Amino acid sequence: MKKKLIILGIETSCDETAAAVIQENDHGEIKILSNIVSSQFEIHRKFGGVVPELAARAHAEKIDLITQKAIIDSGIKMKNLDAVAVTAGPGLIVCLSVGLNFGKAVASSLKKPFIAVNHLEGHALSPKLNSNLNYPYLLLLISGGHSQFLSVENLGKYKRLGTTIDDAVGEAFDKTAKLIGIGFPGGPKLEECAKKGNPYKFNLPKPIINRGGCNLSFSGLKTAVLKISKKIKTKKEKYDLAASFQKTIEEILYKKSKIAFQEFKKSNMEGNKFVVAGGVAANKKIRNVLKNLCIEENFESIFPPINLCGDNAAMIAMVGLEKFKKKQFNKLDFPAKPRWALDEKAIFLKGAGVKL
Ligand code: KG4
Ligand code: ZN
Repeated sequence: MKKKLIILGIETSCDETAAAVIQENDHGEIKILSNIVSSQFEIHRKFGGVVPELAARAHAEKIDLITQKAIIDSGIKMKNLDAVAVTAGPGLIVCLSVGLNFGKAVASSLKKPFIAVNHLEGHALSPKLNSNLNYPYLLLLISGGHSQFLSVENLGKYKRLGTTIDDAVGEAFDKTAKLIGIGFPGGPKLEECAKKGNPYKFNLPKPIINRGGCNLSFSGLKTAVLKISKKIKTKKEKYDLAASFQKTIEEILYKKSKIAFQEFKKSNMEGNKFVVAGGVAANKKIRNVLKNLCIEENFESIFPPINLCGDNAAMIAMVGLEKFKKKQFNKLDFPAKPRWALDEKAIFLKGAGVKL
């Protein structure tokens, strides 16, 4: 009989200290036994963004308590773990190092395999935590640091179809929220404010909407928001700007996803599954717009549950589980990788003068 597999996941790449235990049963079903996420919003709020040194200190103070809690909540014993999977990158090096060193120490003391996980692969596989998702699929990864369309061919096998040439979508949400003065973390707050405003009030630009394939750009949008934000005075205007921004992002993602569908088909990938993951995938209106696009284009839309869109360790354990089954273990000298692309062959496409 197939053995049950139990994996501990650890995540400290940015401002969430997280640990989770997942189990795969004899029928291949995944169960999240525990999923603890400690957010540092309160620490970073007054700075309006994540301060790396403070984040790393908070991870160091909490990581063992959070991991202990994940183990206790899961109801398993440490000795029953099959492997320890830890985010090794990309992210803030001072933050990654805390979880990585801790995870290595746990794996080594238990004499269990250590598995280094790419945080982006965690987002990419996050829908597998609650649904049966087979390769290949088209992925739109939208988070605070990344915005990419990728063809996910297999575990560890990614082909980038498009990427942002400047800001990430989550970053655009956060910066807009800051400019309008609706606080931190910006994304969820902006989504709420947008509900109260008129989305047709301000006509915002959609950079590179008619060129550059499914590559994305948001910095011109941010500049437009900056200019308008200096002129607006009332609460009502604030909400209108938030609503106009939200609508513009929806339109950009709709159009660029449509192009990505064609590129996915052109690259001879079978299937028609479209996964949207990462923190911004928690945005309900973006989910709806992309769900509708999938209906129009005969694609199947797949989203992680809202609580698994943002950073968490269950998704890291999920990658650990798949790597465990392929015996893809790592040595304890595996370094933290602040930059770690999913498609390492893709060319660098950022900055002024980039040719699309
Ligand atoms: O995946 P994630 O938790 O961390 C990174 O890997 O970056 O994503 C965080 C990003 C932040 O920029 C946050 O503002 C954004 O996701 N976000 C949202 C929403 N919830 C989180 N953006 C728009 N609408 C939301 N509801
Ligand atoms: Zn993330």
